[in-house]
Amino acid sequence: MTAQANPQAARVVLEQVSKRFGQTLAVDQVSLAIEPGELVTLLGPSGCGKTTTLRMVAGLETVGGGRIFIGDAEVTHLPPNARDVTMVFQSYALFPHLTVFENVAYGLRVLKRSEAEVQQAVRNVLELVGMPGLEGRSPSALSGGQQQRVAVARALVMQPKVLLFDEPLSNLDAKLRKRMREEIRLLQQRLGITAIYVTHDQAEALAISDRIVVMDRGRTSQIGSPLELYKAPANRFVAEFIGEANFLPAQLESVADGWAGIRIGPQRLRVQSRPLAVGPVTVLARPEAIRIQTGGEGLAGTIQKVSYLGSSADYTVETDLGSVLVTDYAMPGGVLSAGTAVRLEFLPHGVYPLPGAS
Ligand SMILES: Nc1ncnc2c1ncn2[C@@H]1O[C@H](COP(=O)(O)OP(=O)(O)O)[C@@H](O)[C@H]1O
Ligand SMILES: [Mg+2]
Repeated sequence: MTAQANPQAARVVLEQVSKRFGQTLAVDQVSLAIEPGELVTLLGPSGCGKTTTLRMVAGLETVGGGRIFIGDAEVTHLPPNARDVTMVFQSYALFPHLTVFENVAYGLRVLKRSEAEVQQAVRNVLELVGMPGLEGRSPSALSGGQQQRVAVARALVMQPKVLLFDEPLSNLDAKLRKRMREEIRLLQQRLGITAIYVTHDQAEALAISDRIVVMDRGRTSQIGSPLELYKAPANRFVAEFIGEANFLPAQLESVADGWAGIRIGPQRLRVQSRPLAVGPVTVLARPEAIRIQTGGEGLAGTIQKVSYLGSSADYTVETDLGSVLVTDYAMPGGVLSAGTAVRLEFLPHGVYPLPGAS
């Protein structure tokens, strides 16, 4: 389903936003423009400043420096309830003594909305998140996934301009996490609501986002679509964080018009590249873009380790350039065993030269 234009949806702009806690510069001049109806994920390791950034957008944390805009208004110093944003927390933060209905109704009751309006809005939103019929339950009688849906419903019922998610799926098992992230994404697209989503899980970020902001020690390391980050990481940090990656020494022999001629071991290939100087480089080689064969002209190596994963096999191959991880989905020759002498052929679509010599 494609996103619909939602006249309520707001643009969110962060202009050089910073936050210091004592000696810790938690957020360091983060600038970012999120378009109406877009879902942007803040992705990075624990402690890189994701939650602090989100809490400043929500107004739950004072802004140390810079400015924040929601829609046409500057909100930098406005209290949370004057910002038209709602947040879904990792812990769900449901009230244990209230029913599902009253948990969802809570914000509307605070605003003293009429009973008829509350009834209508809560029922609509519970239906929207796929939970009709459970209004009378207490949160403790719900599964983790259902509690998560109630938390989302409680945020949506306020019809915010912006929805904020802070690691909303961390308390769920892997299978449910996958399903819930799809549900959140579908809902967000259907409603056309602007959303900022925080996670440290790169697979989740790739699956759910229009764009991803990779954060490293309080700074934005790269901002781009999932495909851009995967295909053209700006640096090694991003390449390591998004997907599996090999980093191999190579020679950059020519560069022109966005293409580079490179040599990896015995193999020459032409790959897409940003402008770089000719000479030694480090190339990123994705494991699934390396063909492993028992013959041919490629980089010679010996299989050290095999993991058979059902639809694919992972090989660790020792070569003159170092250890190389290869993921083979095709397995035309069946699964190869440890100790086998192999040749590795690099496929151009999964190879990308990185700035900085090896
Ligand atoms: N209230 C606080 N007081 C002191 N330090 C904090 C506080 N909140 C966060 N920090 C520090 O700021 C940095 C960023 O934290 P946080 O935004 O929670 O990161 P993330 O959500 O990416 O894990 C960390 O070093 C953390 O310890
Ligand atoms: Mg956090």
